[in-house]
Amino acid sequence: MKILYVTSEAVPFCKTGGLADVAGSLPPALAEQGAEVAVILPLYERVRDRFGSQLKFECYDYVDLAWRHNYCGLFSMEKDGVTWYFLDNEQYFSRGTLYGQADDGERFAFFSRAVVRMMDHFKFWPEVVHCNDWQSALVPIYLKDDGVREERYRSIKTVVTIHNIEYQGRYNPYVLGELFGLDAGWAKDGTMLLDGDANLLKGAILCADAVNAVSPTYANELKMPYFAHRMEGVMRRCSDKLSGVLNGIDMKLYDPRTDGRILKNFSADDMAGKEACKAELQRMVGLREEAHTPIVAMVSRLVSHKGLDLICEVLHDMMELPMQLVVLGTGDQRYEEFFHWAAQQYPGRMSVRMDYNEDLSMAIYAGADLFLMPSKSEPCGLSQMIAMRYGTVPIVRETGGLKDTVQPCESWRDAGNGFSFANYSSGDMLHVIREAVYLYKDYPDVFGRLRQRAMSCDFSWARSAREYLRIYATITGQTWPIHKDTFRAAEAPAEEAVSVEETAPVVEAVPAEEPAPVMEPAPAKEAAPVAEPAPAEEAAPVVEPAPVEEATPAVEPAPAEKAASLVDEPKKTRKTTAKTAAKAEKKSSKKSTTAKKGTAGKKKSAE
Ligand code: GLC
Repeated sequence: MKILYVTSEAVPFCKTGGLADVAGSLPPALAEQGAEVAVILPLYERVRDRFGSQLKFECYDYVDLAWRHNYCGLFSMEKDGVTWYFLDNEQYFSRGTLYGQADDGERFAFFSRAVVRMMDHFKFWPEVVHCNDWQSALVPIYLKDDGVREERYRSIKTVVTIHNIEYQGRYNPYVLGELFGLDAGWAKDGTMLLDGDANLLKGAILCADAVNAVSPTYANELKMPYFAHRMEGVMRRCSDKLSGVLNGIDMKLYDPRTDGRILKNFSADDMAGKEACKAELQRMVGLREEAHTPIVAMVSRLVSHKGLDLICEVLHDMMELPMQLVVLGTGDQRYEEFFHWAAQQYPGRMSVRMDYNEDLSMAIYAGADLFLMPSKSEPCGLSQMIAMRYGTVPIVRETGGLKDTVQPCESWRDAGNGFSFANYSSGDMLHVIREAVYLYKDYPDVFGRLRQRAMSCDFSWARSAREYLRIYATITGQTWPIHKDTFRAAEAPAEEAVSVEETAPVVEAVPAEEPAPVMEPAPAKEAAPVAEPAPAEEAAPVVEPAPVEEATPAVEPAPAEKAASLVDEPKKTRKTTAKTAAKAEKKSSKKSTTAKKGTAGKKKSAE
């Protein structure tokens, strides 16, 4: 299987967010399972500065985009069994930042056009082109456009991964020809039109052979107006080719047994190192050195969808609890000011660092006891998985990937790997924080076992890579060989390609008036509905906004499907109580872009 993975950022070359982590880890994981993989990204200034000497110049060619005829250099590097290609055009990519420029539309249109144009120069002709977010959304569109004339483009199947639907690449439709070199028909027939804008992501979703979101729950949420940023109609229309594949984390990089970035290594069996890391963290951030006071941590961008309003509402109630709080991150001024002020009220008990600091974040993952992520929405989220790996038990709101990775603790039967709450409500969040803090303080053995379960979760990329390979196999009509050691026989019969839907079941959208989808039939006394996490204004039935260009098919009634689960225990919504903890202990033993006219690309001296 020959896969071309198209991304606008990838670790270790360039990073602004989670996409880079995914693009840095998934391709090697695919290669490890036998796929031939090449990744392609722009040769940004920072990549040239840091990796230039390791890059091999392959060739150059010219890319035609509308009236432009621009130079494009191709560089490569072999790493982790993958060929990493870099597309060079200094005019577009020699900039201080990756995104946020007035001509981003033109820059990434050039990138996408060049990906298709330069395919002749790659080491293989891809069977699957896998694109990510709006920056490479034009690739499936260009492949369809070129496919009308050339059969070889029609042979390529496409996958689009949505990491965050908030960013769609929206432009004035009048620039379709001028900026993107596309016929006005792409907007007129609705393929690229949403709310009067030319919408790149919508076009990609409609043109792609398979679409996936970065967690099964997010794939389902994308059919609802609250989460979909006007794309719910498109997502429902595409539900037959939509799946959710949970991201993984780099299990080697984030391994408390070997990580050289933390003070002392530790493991689920020997937690002495964690205690040392905790004392070190308290020293580093100016918290009182109290071994038995739980440290609640947040490492997050300080922006609204991370659920910070909830914290602002009940911070003082939180600080009444016998806990310490450490916050690391930068973001909106109002939150920065709030946290700065709040920390001054609780010297020695609350510490805030407005910073993006990799070392401190590792010290927090390793030294804290609880990790708070009360997000309003979270497509996947990586921090909760990293925290779990380091024995820092997550407290999350049940949305997106948080819901798929954290199963609430049921101490009465030693199940679950964290704490969670369903409603976007500060009261509910406070309740769960209280539960967690007292479990830590009063039932250390029960908490210790919970911590061990969190640490033993499988968040490896191998699992996600297998799901992607099944998607690729489905759309190309191939069978993908099963490797004894990587595939479990029951998971994928060798002879048959598994349908996209089967790869990761997406729970069908449920009308808003129904209680939140409880994944498992629950005994009567547990049937008390966990209300759908919807603020009042969203509680109204899911009425499709139905823009003229969008035909909205009726939502199918929800079949009883199972959400992907990472731990063996079935998901329940029952809450931990001190009583049940006690029992368990006895028994003892989770744009308007200006169509800026680019000047002809500056020809860069090769090498
Ligand atoms: C985006 C999402 C985040 C996800 C990441 C990688 O940054 O906001 O939740 O983990 O992409 O897919």
